[in-house]
Amino acid sequence: MRDTAEEIVALKKEKRAVVLAHYYVPDEVQSAADYVGDSYYLAKIAAETQAETIVFCGVHFMGESAKILNPSRRVLMPDLTADCAMAHMASEEQIGKMRAETEDLAVVCYINSTAKLKSLSDVCVTSSNAVKIVRALKEKNILFIPDQNLGSFVAEQVPEKNFYFSGGYCPVHAVVLAEDVLSAKRAHPSAEALTHPECVETVRRASDFIGSTAEIIAHAQKSGAREFIVCTEPGVLFELKRRCPDKKFYPVTPACLDMKRNTLAGVAKCLREGAGEVLMSEEEMNAARRSLERMLELAR
Ligand code: 13P
Ligand code: SF4
Repeated sequence: MRDTAEEIVALKKEKRAVVLAHYYVPDEVQSAADYVGDSYYLAKIAAETQAETIVFCGVHFMGESAKILNPSRRVLMPDLTADCAMAHMASEEQIGKMRAETEDLAVVCYINSTAKLKSLSDVCVTSSNAVKIVRALKEKNILFIPDQNLGSFVAEQVPEKNFYFSGGYCPVHAVVLAEDVLSAKRAHPSAEALTHPECVETVRRASDFIGSTAEIIAHAQKSGAREFIVCTEPGVLFELKRRCPDKKFYPVTPACLDMKRNTLAGVAKCLREGAGEVLMSEEEMNAARRSLERMLELAR
């Protein structure tokens, strides 16, 4: 009898489908994917693919962004309830008030956000392109939604602009404390601490390198260090160990349970039955597309 991984290989061919997976989903799902990467890489792949069906293994805003960027494709998700809590942490009222009160303002929206928030924003960013994009904007004032931690990281790199925040945060990264990093450093004195910018400022200050998941992986690969404290969701350890089999990794961040809702059985069900389709109205997609496309242009 065929196992689920073999069934997925056969179904992908039969349905002209491609499977995309974020570094945070379970190891076996990353293994079954055609493309594994960070949010920016996956958004670009989704926008460009010629495949008829995209199975997106991640959280809801990722499937939604794929559908908005490539609306003629069918986008399926192994579990439509896998949601990013931070995606909802800004409001239409906050944005409207800031726009009414502040001249020369750009609303910059982290891709970890609902389609509604994207439609109210001037440009989207991911953790790997936020600094470059914000620096390139002509506006002096920036309302950065919804992640205040990524926002404050960008503000440190772009001191010539004024920043305002909506006060959102990632509940997975925000629980890591500077003391967690410092005690891991005491236990592993030669380890470098690699940190996602969704972590709080004190954690970032205690770290040796700050970057997106893809940037953390690339840094670990080229660094001369042999050991690393990993301050991002531990799903990245699968790719870190694959690329750096002789190096050691010590995770300090808890798992994102929504990302773990992606299973091999769920991927097979998408492919077999067309289950988990991301459905959006034309109006909703058209409204959110401009800010996502502007991100792809400015990040190029
Ligand atoms: P990346 O931009 O590194 O993919 O991060 C996405 C994310 O959800 C981090 O929590
Ligand atoms: Fe959202 Fe945080 Fe999970 Fe990333 S790790 S998907 S930001 S809840």
